[in-house]
Amino acid sequence: NYDEFTDKVIDHFMCPRNVGSMINPDGVGRFGEPGCGDSLDIYIKVKDNVIEEISFLVFGCVAAVATSSMTTVLAKGKTLEEALKITNHDIADALDGLPENKLHCSVLGANALKNAIDDYYRRTSQVSE
Ligand code: FES
Repeated sequence: NYDEFTDKVIDHFMCPRNVGSMINPDGVGRFGEPGCGDSLDIYIKVKDNVIEEISFLVFGCVAAVATSSMTTVLAKGKTLEEALKITNHDIADALDGLPENKLHCSVLGANALKNAIDDYYRRTSQVSE
């Protein structure tokens, strides 16, 4: 029953953007929702401080798939600083909203993205040491 979801949520669930793992990513971020056990991995490639490529693999509910997809759409082409400012509410808003009891699913995207960027910062500072 998809009645509770907006058309955009259904669209991103049925046809998720940027799905898949990535060969030689510059950063990988994982975030798992302890409450439901769902989990998201985000992969990024960074060039000149901009997220040039991004993809994801998720194990989760309808809203987790849709919000993960939207996270990658919002983050692609952004600078790392801009991408770090993406909140779970931005992700939900870009999907025209989520049911109240599904808002927590959008936390996966925001947090996995932050973890991927942190991973990138970690890796690059290791290289320059
Ligand atoms: Fe777990 Fe949606 S119910 S992320």
